[in-house]
Amino acid sequence: MTDRSRRRWLTSVGAASLAVGLPRCDRDEPVVAVDAGPTDEWTRVRWRLFEGAKIIVARDGRGLFAMSAVCPHQGCIVGPTPGRVCVPPEDGATSETPTLCCACHSSSFDGDGLAISGPAAPRRLAHWRVLVEGGRVRVMVNDPVAVAFRAVE
Ligand code: FES
Repeated sequence: MTDRSRRRWLTSVGAASLAVGLPRCDRDEPVVAVDAGPTDEWTRVRWRLFEGAKIIVARDGRGLFAMSAVCPHQGCIVGPTPGRVCVPPEDGATSETPTLCCACHSSSFDGDGLAISGPAAPRRLAHWRVLVEGGRVRVMVNDPVAVAFRAVE
């Protein structure tokens, strides 16, 4: 193998490895826009589960953000829990505190979606892009963003 053909082979292997390493959501799942309500509603609510869309939308001091509500352990729904007891979340469940849990096997998550206890630890909930447009909050499900991403009202 000449240096030139070896370089080409290494380049193609590197490109193939990079493509395989991409998260599944980047390649296979279509981006779906989910309406999360009017922006003025988010001045009161801090954490809310949208069970049908399998997302958790939240607001902190830096802005609005959203995470997948699909538990990275075995796919149950993670939701905000107002108390110390982890119970199966109901659609629309809200909380003032960033305490999230999965009742299937009692994993708990911090406010950034990192599993801090239970069998889901130390995996993290995926974060999705949030847009604030025309007075409404929209979550772009399957459009991954960094954990620190916030949409500003
Ligand atoms: S599916 Fe969530 S902890 Fe097992």
